[in-house]
Amino acid sequence: MKRQAPASQRLRGRRAGVSRGDVTLPSPAGVALTFPEGAALIVGCGNIGGAAALRLGEAGVPVVLTYRGNARRARALVRQIQARGGQARAHQLDLLQDAAVGRVVRDCARDFGRLHSVVYAAGPPIPFLRVRDMPPRTLERHLLADSLGCFRLFHHAIPVLERGGGGSLTAIVTMANYRAIDTDGLSAIPKAAVESLVRQVAAEEAAAGIRANAVPIGWVGGFASSFAEARAYTAAMTGPEAPATRALMERLMSFIRMGRPGTAQEVGNIVAFLASEQASYVTGCVIAADGGAIL
Ligand SMILES: NC(=O)c1ccc[n+]([C@@H]2O[C@H](COP(=O)([O-])OP(=O)(O)OC[C@H]3O[C@@H](n4cnc5c(N)ncnc54)[C@H](OP(=O)(O)O)[C@@H]3O)[C@@H](O)[C@H]2O)c1
Repeated sequence: MKRQAPASQRLRGRRAGVSRGDVTLPSPAGVALTFPEGAALIVGCGNIGGAAALRLGEAGVPVVLTYRGNARRARALVRQIQARGGQARAHQLDLLQDAAVGRVVRDCARDFGRLHSVVYAAGPPIPFLRVRDMPPRTLERHLLADSLGCFRLFHHAIPVLERGGGGSLTAIVTMANYRAIDTDGLSAIPKAAVESLVRQVAAEEAAAGIRANAVPIGWVGGFASSFAEARAYTAAMTGPEAPATRALMERLMSFIRMGRPGTAQEVGNIVAFLASEQASYVTGCVIAADGGAIL
């Protein structure tokens, strides 16, 4: 049985039909997202992972979300999804623990009959540092938690997805790999490896029915919903990181053509699309949600 989102939650097509030579692709009222039976695993339920979990939960997909330390947020998300009629549960998971990653992935498939989608939306908090000021041990910790963490997740997920008949892997990365932002190296360098991993897996696992895609994001407002609010927020900052944070935010805002931060819901919509059957021929792609920042 296919799961279909309610009409109010469907992505609306703009045209009644699209002509391609002698083929007309029917697209009557809109594009409904459908999903196979089984669950989605969302690793990292912060700003982006939380929105992706809500979006998939609303679409009727049972969702397993993981947190490292913030159990309260995870439990609140689970309650929110359940209150909207969805199925959800939360697990503590530290991506540094290889055996635990494998266990969580296998448990999802066992408990829900199948795991069809895995979303990597995790990463440690990022101090803003130039490479010249970055202690090698700091970069090492970020590579272990972020790049290697995503590697562990995908490595353990691939055989589980394959046993279920295929599925989708999606990783949240950063636009800073396309337009360098001074002091943002601890985000960009590990996420570059994550993006490479996505392409590698997409090439190697297409024959197994496994798709892998990356979503670079620009700035998704957590602390501010407009540039004005962001300026007020950073202006009030104190401490040694404040000047670098202000400079980074100004640079980032100067890149964003749409003149506003994105919302986590906007990224959640893309994640849901990539996990859906409507993205069945999409793999190895980089679909940015950055308001035009990398143009
Ligand atoms: N938001 C943006 O504008 C933006 C822009 C570019 C890139 N990014 C990157 O995109 C990713 C998601 O962004 P976000 O805004 O959703 O970040 P966020 O709100 O800080 O959430 C990060 C999530 O990762 C989890 N996590 C951290 N270290 C972990 C570990 N070792 N093992 C397992 N989970 C771990 C955190 O768990 P706990 O909270 O429980 O510790 C949290 O759930 C991050 O890597 C971020 O740097 C974000």
